[in-house]
Amino acid sequence: MQSKQKQMLAVWGSPGSGKTVTALKIAAELAKGKKNVAVVFCDAVAPPLPTVIRTKKSADGSLGAALSFPVISQEIAMKNLIASEQNPYVSFIGYAAGENAYTYAGYIKERAVDMLVLLRHIADHVIVDCSSVLNDNVLSTAALEVADNVLRLCPCDLKGLSYYMSYLPLIGDRKFKTDKHIRVLTNPHPYQGGREYENAYGGVSFCLPYLPSIEEQAVTQNLLAPLSGKEGKAYESMISAITREVFDSDQ
Ligand SMILES: Nc1ncnc2c1ncn2[C@@H]1O[C@H](COP(=O)(O)OP(=O)(O)OP(=O)(O)O)[C@@H](O)[C@H]1O
Ligand SMILES: [Mg+2]
Repeated sequence: MQSKQKQMLAVWGSPGSGKTVTALKIAAELAKGKKNVAVVFCDAVAPPLPTVIRTKKSADGSLGAALSFPVISQEIAMKNLIASEQNPYVSFIGYAAGENAYTYAGYIKERAVDMLVLLRHIADHVIVDCSSVLNDNVLSTAALEVADNVLRLCPCDLKGLSYYMSYLPLIGDRKFKTDKHIRVLTNPHPYQGGREYENAYGGVSFCLPYLPSIEEQAVTQNLLAPLSGKEGKAYESMISAITREVFDSDQ
């Protein structure tokens, strides 16, 4: 039976490291086991909701709207969750097209925690696609504290490494349990020394390969679909291994 204890995952890492793609691929993996998954898109700067997934035409929920209530009820959370058009087990909550962090009044950390706790009650699993920049993203910061596991994506580029080093002191507080973060190397290209990056990040537990077909899925809003070919299957088995590790499941 599925453990209820490992239910929420926060996906975090440098800008462009593959957070949104990885969050959606893990959601699709969990959905194979007929588990309801809620994906939370924290980014208010370039909201992923209108760009990376297909939703029902009538969908009009917003994370910003839900967070701006003085008290968030289960009904409010559910009203702002948007069902996937492609997968009946996956739903999303994020900022809508044209919205940004200033569309709504600011919210406090307590509200962010309330939201995450409610989503835990609503869905079997919650995956939080965090914003890279935490300074003004209360929900991402709360997710890093509240989630049962944090996937820390470590891309094979110098900008990603620079981000990693600059953020280490900012999340040094024990509440972030940085030593428990599960590091994943992303986007290694054949011409790069993946091993050197692995060492520079202090070792990684998993490596997600770069696949052109994933870029194609991203631009066609089709990331919940399975991948084909040998490389696609290899990528999916890595996603499956990560999913088992982070949710402590037999998935
Ligand atoms: N394994 C992969 N293979 C090929 N392309 C990938 C892979 N993972 C992500 N990408 C591509 O890299 C780009 C960045 O991915 P994604 O949007 O998931 O990153 P992110 O960390 O969420 O970015 P942001 O910081 O802007 O939110 C996208 O164009 C995506 O299609
Ligand atoms: Mg993203």
